[in-house]
Amino acid sequence: MKTILKTERVLSSEVARHAGKEITVSGWLHKKRDLGGVTFLILRDRLGLVQVLIEEANEREKLRGLQVGSVLTLKGIVVEDKRAVGGAEIHEPKITVDVPVEFPSPIELDKPIDHRPETLDTLFEWRVLNIRNLAEMGVWRIQAGIGDAIREFLCANEFVEFHSPKLLAGSTEGGAEVFQLDYFGKQATLAQSAQFYKQMMVASLERVFEFGSTYRAEPSMTTRHMTEFITIDVEIGFISGMTELLELMSALINHACDAVSRKYKPELLALKATRPVLAEKFPEITVKELHELVYRETGQDFRSEKDPAPFEERWICEHSAKHWGSEAVFITEFPASGMKFYHYRSERNPEVAERADLIFRGVEIITGSRREHRYHKLVEQLRAMGGDPEDPGFKYYLQAFQYGMPSHGGFGLGLERLTQKIIGFRNIKEATLFPRDMNRLAP
Ligand code: 4AD
Ligand code: MG
Repeated sequence: MKTILKTERVLSSEVARHAGKEITVSGWLHKKRDLGGVTFLILRDRLGLVQVLIEEANEREKLRGLQVGSVLTLKGIVVEDKRAVGGAEIHEPKITVDVPVEFPSPIELDKPIDHRPETLDTLFEWRVLNIRNLAEMGVWRIQAGIGDAIREFLCANEFVEFHSPKLLAGSTEGGAEVFQLDYFGKQATLAQSAQFYKQMMVASLERVFEFGSTYRAEPSMTTRHMTEFITIDVEIGFISGMTELLELMSALINHACDAVSRKYKPELLALKATRPVLAEKFPEITVKELHELVYRETGQDFRSEKDPAPFEERWICEHSAKHWGSEAVFITEFPASGMKFYHYRSERNPEVAERADLIFRGVEIITGSRREHRYHKLVEQLRAMGGDPEDPGFKYYLQAFQYGMPSHGGFGLGLERLTQKIIGFRNIKEATLFPRDMNRLAP
């Protein structure tokens, strides 16, 4: 592939290779220290830091009053120095001040950024600045790397990426968590998922996926919910049941975790992330078995609940890590009484829907299911749940089934929750660049 934007500029990680030579570096003033007659300067670029020693009075004068963040270009000699960051230092620089900064930074960018729960709001308030912190930069690199690995896996397995609209006529997931908006005098909604569209695409490309913005009018303030997030939606045709779906999810998450652990070692280390322990095929437990096991082991009784409780999700992950060798575990066979109209009711046991949630390090990161693909059955299930097949929100979706839909299934994976859990953050928003919740619409 063609490499673009090749310049004279040497990046911080390459400086040591130029020992004895004159080079040009550019970046941001990260730290400056004046020590009796000399100035030590640390410059930051996209790959890290480089240390500079400035002795000449004229050059030192150029830096007077400059604040952190000033954009500088320096031309100087590389001197090997084991004690310096990156193993080398730049001496005798000629300094060009490209962009002087006069405003002192309100947060210290060269120190670890505070992630305590009680100060998180400050973290989001100053996001524009703290994305310049080296450890924080790692979060976004890791998140991009997770996305790359997932794309790589899906493409290698013949999935095709597609894009679905986010302005919709009706809701896809039902419930109250739907944003309504005025659409030229008509009512529209923001997509709660790509659910209907990925299913429609199965009748064409068979294996599809999307990385899509997803909107939920989520009125709660929890550590795992936001009003906008990225779902990786995956759908696959010609499956015979849940087994293939569970295999696909296990393999996908294993691939993503392996790839990220391999490619982002320094970033993960800086964030004190520990490598997830994962079984090749994640263990499974049904909702009913989970309620029973939790009741037996802890005395907490959730046996009348349709969904696993957050406590149970945390508990089963610890249990699974300890006894089943996997920090990720599937919860399967959800009660049919709580199912969505598009779910497939188990033939073996009509009391349950063929749905599975993947719980990883205590939080649900995936919901997947086999879908009802038989037109009449689907319409019947939709009507039973109060939906109108003629509504434009459903009408076109149903056409896909009228004209031939194979057996299929799929899942939605929350990118921010996966990033959060791989890094080990307490709150999903720490793994979200510009989080959106009830109280935050900016930056
Ligand atoms: O579990 P959810 O709601 O499932 C669906 O949207 C189905 N259409 C998926 C399917 O194919 N059957 O959402 C999928 C994932 C969750 O497991 C979670 O990781 C993430 O999306 N998610 C959220 N992330 C952040 N904030 C929220 N409010 C989220 N709601 C769901
Ligand atoms: Mg779910």
